[in-house]
Amino acid sequence: MAAAAKVLSFLTASFLLVHLVTTVAASSVGHEIRRGFSAGHDTSYSQFQPLLADPTGVFSLGFLRAAASDSDSDQLNLVVLHLASSTALWHAALARPLLWEAPVSLSFNGSLVLSDAETGILWSTPAIDAGDRLVLLNSSNLQVQKLAAMTAVVVLWESFDFPANTLVQGQNFTSAADVKSTDQRFSMRVEESYLALYMELPGGTPPVMYWRHAAMEAKAEIVAGGGPIYAQVGEGFLGMYQNESAPVDVLPFKSFNLGIRGFRRLTLESDGNLRAYYWNGTIWAKDLEAIADRCDIPTSCGAYGLCDYSGGCGCLDGARKADRCLPAASGDFCAAGANEFGILRRKGVDLANKVLAANEKVGSLEECEASCERNCSCWGAIYNNASGYCYRLDYPIQSLVAADESKEGYFKLRPSGGGGGRSRKVKVAFLAVGSLVLVGTTTAAVVAYGVRRRRRGVTARVEGSMVEGLTPGPYKDLNSASFRSIELS
Ligand SMILES: *[C@@H]1O[C@H](CO)[C@@H](O)[C@H](O)[C@H]1NC(C)=O
Ligand SMILES: *[C@@H]1O[C@H](CO)[C@@H](O)[C@H](O)[C@H]1NC(C)=O
Ligand SMILES: *[C@@H]1O[C@H](CO)[C@@H](O)[C@H](O)[C@H]1NC(C)=O
Ligand SMILES: *[C@@H]1O[C@H](CO)[C@@H](O)[C@H](O)[C@H]1NC(C)=O
Ligand SMILES: *[C@@H]1O[C@H](CO)[C@@H](O)[C@H](O)[C@H]1NC(C)=O
Ligand SMILES: *[C@@H]1O[C@H](CO)[C@@H](O)[C@H](O)[C@H]1NC(C)=O
Ligand SMILES: *[C@@H]1O[C@H](CO)[C@@H](O)[C@H](O)[C@H]1NC(C)=O
Repeated sequence: MAAAAKVLSFLTASFLLVHLVTTVAASSVGHEIRRGFSAGHDTSYSQFQPLLADPTGVFSLGFLRAAASDSDSDQLNLVVLHLASSTALWHAALARPLLWEAPVSLSFNGSLVLSDAETGILWSTPAIDAGDRLVLLNSSNLQVQKLAAMTAVVVLWESFDFPANTLVQGQNFTSAADVKSTDQRFSMRVEESYLALYMELPGGTPPVMYWRHAAMEAKAEIVAGGGPIYAQVGEGFLGMYQNESAPVDVLPFKSFNLGIRGFRRLTLESDGNLRAYYWNGTIWAKDLEAIADRCDIPTSCGAYGLCDYSGGCGCLDGARKADRCLPAASGDFCAAGANEFGILRRKGVDLANKVLAANEKVGSLEECEASCERNCSCWGAIYNNASGYCYRLDYPIQSLVAADESKEGYFKLRPSGGGGGRSRKVKVAFLAVGSLVLVGTTTAAVVAYGVRRRRRGVTARVEGSMVEGLTPGPYKDLNSASFRSIELS
């Protein structure tokens, strides 16, 4: 799990942080790879070693170097890169991280195989049927093809079926696939009649939905038994379809119907937001931001955090901590002897996405709390005194949002010092924090948020690489020279 996260996190590296100069000897990179091909990793390429080009010269398959964080060494992955922006649109789902120096090689024997001499196969496409060639289409789709009679081509495998954190224009996104942020904390899936974003949690806790876009069915209705729904980025919108004849939903981007033709992508970013962009020739212009307020993303203020729509982060326990509120927890309280917890009560807190949360009508606050207290998979509950609804949180407490006094929260806390081991329930009634503290917290929180933002700067800048609002570095036309140079700073 940690290893996998690390593998993927390498892609969050900023191409703007490093002043990178990639030289690409265009002449040495072909437009197709045939059986028998093998290429070793050549560390003399400083950032990107191209191995296969698409017909338009816009994309390339190759080995990309990136640092996951300041402390991490540079890692290597096999990616499909948008050359002009150095944005990885797809990467191989490696089981463990590879160092940039790794003596890996990529070969094609009918399957595409990434291997090294010591470990053997690190990643490969399935070897069900041997392909004849590997090509990178002008859509950025990487395909293993079998050449059948005449000019017919059978696609045995394609990267479009295995998205990483990004969908590109024309790529079909079905329920067989998921899109995951590079840090693996968030995922996107298409369900029977909607598209949803989930927060992924460790320790076997099911993912928690925090955004849902239901099909409007304005142009076509979803027909029961009419086949699965798939999503596809079109020219200025995200469409959902049951068949090609008409979309069952159109989620318009800013550029909808404006006739802007730039290459488009939809990326689930590491802050949990879903954003669409089009390439205007110089930058990725932002075209959609699915979640307008970051408080609606459950990790916005960290574990036991409190997000204020007016702009700050605080803590549920009222503490004024600049870094984090309480340690992030995982799992539940169901293991033998593990049902020990402290209790934190807080008035004036609510769930950002109540419509997506399980709830039941109860008679009182006490009843709401008791139903959570009794159940070892419950981490907390929010009671709405006005409506009588009780919302159960069956996952470790993340960020909640500030609300009026009629909403009351009850939260379990892992006993500090970990372990535990005594079977007797230890319950510490921590504090019932009122509005007085809330005021203090919010002011403190603005400061805290500032710190947080700086800490998160690395990731933010990565995904902002060549993105609207940030100043892009010098850019050269890649198609003009046989010797290409990408300079970003
Ligand atoms: C290609 O190589 C891999 C790894 O050596 C092997 O598992 C696979 O069976 C080979 N495929 C073919 C078609 O020879
Ligand atoms: C991409 O290729 C398809 C067919 O292979 C072609 O119809 C289309 O015009 C090409 N697009 C670009 C941008 O070259
Ligand atoms: C997407 O799905 C539609 C309908 O099934 C199909 O016609 C189209 O070729 C698919 N596109 C890709 C890129 O696979
Ligand atoms: C596509 O779906 C619509 C209903 O949404 C249906 O009326 C139409 O017959 C379907 N077309 C095909 C080719 O399946
Ligand atoms: C792309 O957008 C940037 C920033 O808005 C702008 O400066 C630039 O001129 C645009 N490029 C094109 C080709 O429209
Ligand atoms: C605890 O809650 C979970 C999830 O809501 C539920 O499936 C389970 O049956 C409950 N257990 C008890 C003992 O009530
Ligand atoms: C909760 O509701 C009851 C009855 O409607 C009311 O008397 C009480 O003041 C409310 N408490 C809060 C904290 O709003």
